[in-house]
Amino acid sequence: MAIRKIARMGHPILREQARQLTKEEILSPQIQNLVLDMVDTMRDAAGIGLAAPQIYESLAIATLEFKADNARYPDMGEQELLVLFNPKVTVLDEKEQAFWEGCLSVPDLRGLVHRPRKIAVDYLDQEAKPQRIEAEGFLATVFQHELDHLFGRLYIDLVRDTKNLSFLEEFRRYGNVKPAEEVD
Ligand code: NI
Repeated sequence: MAIRKIARMGHPILREQARQLTKEEILSPQIQNLVLDMVDTMRDAAGIGLAAPQIYESLAIATLEFKADNARYPDMGEQELLVLFNPKVTVLDEKEQAFWEGCLSVPDLRGLVHRPRKIAVDYLDQEAKPQRIEAEGFLATVFQHELDHLFGRLYIDLVRDTKNLSFLEEFRRYGNVKPAEEVD
């Protein structure tokens, strides 16, 4: 187990499509160890999710975990540790919601991102068994953000109005910055 360095925006690996894993790979000690590194790295950075490309491994793996008292995202509910292999998102409700997002690969920024409000994720668990989870609200946004990493997308690509982009310090100082399109 080890805390790994996190790739930052501009590194090409963040723009690659991550490779899917076979069941044999998922069950292998190498991949199980990689997952332990991902969890260590995510927790050390106080992240609520991490995708393998963020630690320079172009593989379709994501981890998610957040507690109600997370320093970077307070008041967003809880999600116990979830490890997803080869995840695929299906939109269940296209009606959009907007949340202020941040990313360990795009440090010290927050941006307002619109995404479908309800989704399902099909994936393989750590025993390589197929699972399906449905998510709505903030959790749906977190899933879509993490799984986007596996397709070379960053949340910043989805910020529609750069007026809704803020440094974290200013975001905190000026409170919940009012989204530009809602300013009349
Ligand atoms: Ni991210």
